[in-house]
Amino acid sequence: MKFGVLGSGDVGKTLATGLVKHGHEAMLGSRSSGKLDDWLRENPRVKSGNFAQTAAFGDAVVLAVKGSAAPEALRLAGAENLAAKTIIDATNPIDESAAPVHGVLRFFTETNDSLMERLQREFANAHFVKAFNSVGSDFMVDPQFAGGKPTMFICGNSNEAKQTVAGILDQFGWETADMGRAESARAIEPLCLLWCIPGFLRNEWVHAFKLLH
Ligand SMILES: NC(=O)c1ccc[n+]([C@@H]2O[C@H](COP(=O)([O-])OP(=O)(O)OC[C@H]3O[C@@H](n4cnc5c(N)ncnc54)[C@H](OP(=O)(O)O)[C@@H]3O)[C@@H](O)[C@H]2O)c1
Repeated sequence: MKFGVLGSGDVGKTLATGLVKHGHEAMLGSRSSGKLDDWLRENPRVKSGNFAQTAAFGDAVVLAVKGSAAPEALRLAGAENLAAKTIIDATNPIDESAAPVHGVLRFFTETNDSLMERLQREFANAHFVKAFNSVGSDFMVDPQFAGGKPTMFICGNSNEAKQTVAGILDQFGWETADMGRAESARAIEPLCLLWCIPGFLRNEWVHAFKLLH
């Protein structure tokens, strides 16, 4: 498949190179041309463009921008370039104006709300699937843990879009736990808070979640 990856940070770069490694095509999107020049020289199989070009390129889109900027990034991408497409939403609603309190990051959303639901409401013709938000970028592609395959919790309103994402997760070496519709992002986004706590408290950043049955 062709993926348009919106976001030039660690997550966007990691997922773009992971997708190419696993046989897909990827374009990485940024607002600033030139910013990625050195990285693109080292990763020549990844294409680059602005947000609109990147979204238009993809059969599916990856959203990997700063959480507070996600609506603006999608507006720049253009609703017409997102319509009917699977949007793999890796963002977290982190309030960057506040420092973590005893290791707990602050969100700008409340318990009965989530960033993905806000995005799904604004871009109603796109099919958002929450994924990749609850693990550090180092472990998103081909994670290796002594405890076995980690679990990626996903949710979204379109079963077809979730199947597409589960297929990518399978290729990347994850097991998928489908947690239901968009409202479940209220539970999946805060897994980011939990994942980060050992990091902020004890500088331990090497772990992932697993669901046991
Ligand atoms: N880092 C991780 O390990 C990790 C793990 C799981 C989930 N996440 C989540 O994944 C997302 C990406 O994280 P990241 O660390 O890779 O990068 P980041 O620093 O959070 O985001 C970088 C991207 O945000 C875009 N951006 C910033 N301000 C913007 C604005 N005002 N309008 C439009 N776009 C804007 C930047 O655009 P330009 O390219 O134009 O500068 C850049 O592409 C975040 O939501 C984060 O919470 C991160």
